[in-house]
Amino acid sequence: MTKNRALTFMDAKQKNVKITMLTAYDYSMAKLIDESGIDGILVGDSLGMVCLGYKDTLSVTMEDMIHHVKAVSRGVKNALVVGDMPFMSYQNSIYDAVKNAGRLIQEGHADAVKLEGGSSVCEQVKAIVKAQIPVMGHIGLTPQSVNVFGGFKVQGKNEMNARKIIEDAKKLEDAGVFSIVLEGIPYKLAGIITKSVSVPTIGIGAGKYCDGQILVYKDMLQLFSDFKPKFVKYYANVGHVVKGAFENYIEEVKSGVFPDEAHSFKMDDSILDKLN
Ligand code: KIV
Repeated sequence: MTKNRALTFMDAKQKNVKITMLTAYDYSMAKLIDESGIDGILVGDSLGMVCLGYKDTLSVTMEDMIHHVKAVSRGVKNALVVGDMPFMSYQNSIYDAVKNAGRLIQEGHADAVKLEGGSSVCEQVKAIVKAQIPVMGHIGLTPQSVNVFGGFKVQGKNEMNARKIIEDAKKLEDAGVFSIVLEGIPYKLAGIITKSVSVPTIGIGAGKYCDGQILVYKDMLQLFSDFKPKFVKYYANVGHVVKGAFENYIEEVKSGVFPDEAHSFKMDDSILDKLN
C-alpha cells in the first residue's frame, strides 16, 4: 500500500469509492488502525473527552494536540494523518491559524489539519492552504461551538440553518479545503451537500450519502461509555473484555496464581547456595 495524501481523498470521490476514517490518540492504537487498512486517521480534539476526561473539547490545548499527533504519526505508515486544531488555536487571527497549523505538521508530523466552522474561518483556511498545508473543514454540529448551540444538538433541521450549512460547505470548497467533515446533521441534508461540492464529505452522524465516514474509535469499541450518541454503532465490547481481564489479573495476584514459574526468571543453584 502507498501512503495516502489529501489528493487520494479527492481521487476517491471522483472514483465513487467510500473513504474510511477513525480517530486515534496514541502510537499502538494508531498502528493497529493503520494495519487494518483505514484510509485516514484523525487525531481529534475528542481527545479531551475520551482520553483526558473533560466534559467537552474546549480545554484541549495545542500542546495536548502536538503530544498526541506525534505519537499517532509514529505508528502510521499508510493512512492520511489529520491533526485537529483545538479551540482558540485559529479563531483569533490568521497569524495564529497558520502558525498553529504549521506546528501540527512540523512538530506533530501530521499530513493535514482540520478546523471547525464555515464562512467565519474561510480566511484562515485560505492562508493555511497558501502555506501548503492541506485543510479538512468541519461543519454542522461542531463541538467547539457547544456553548453557542446550547449542547450537542443536531444542526440543520430548519430551512435557514440548513441553507447556512450548504452555503458554508461551498465557501469552504472555494477557500481550498480537500474534504469536509459533516457532523450531526440530517442525512438528506448531508446528501444535498455531498452533491453540491466537488471535495469529499466525511460523515459522523450525517448518514449514508456522504463520501466517507469517521467514528471515534473509543466509541465504536465501547471503551468510552460516559454517553452514547445515536449515530455510534458498537462494533465490539472491548471495554467489557478489558474489565474482565483486569478482574482476572486481580484475582490471580491475590490468590498467588500469578506470577508463576513460566513468567519468572531463574538462576544457577550454585550461585544461589552462596547467597543463602
Ligand atoms: O475530534 C474529533 O474526534 C472529531 C470527529 C468527531 C470528526 O472532530
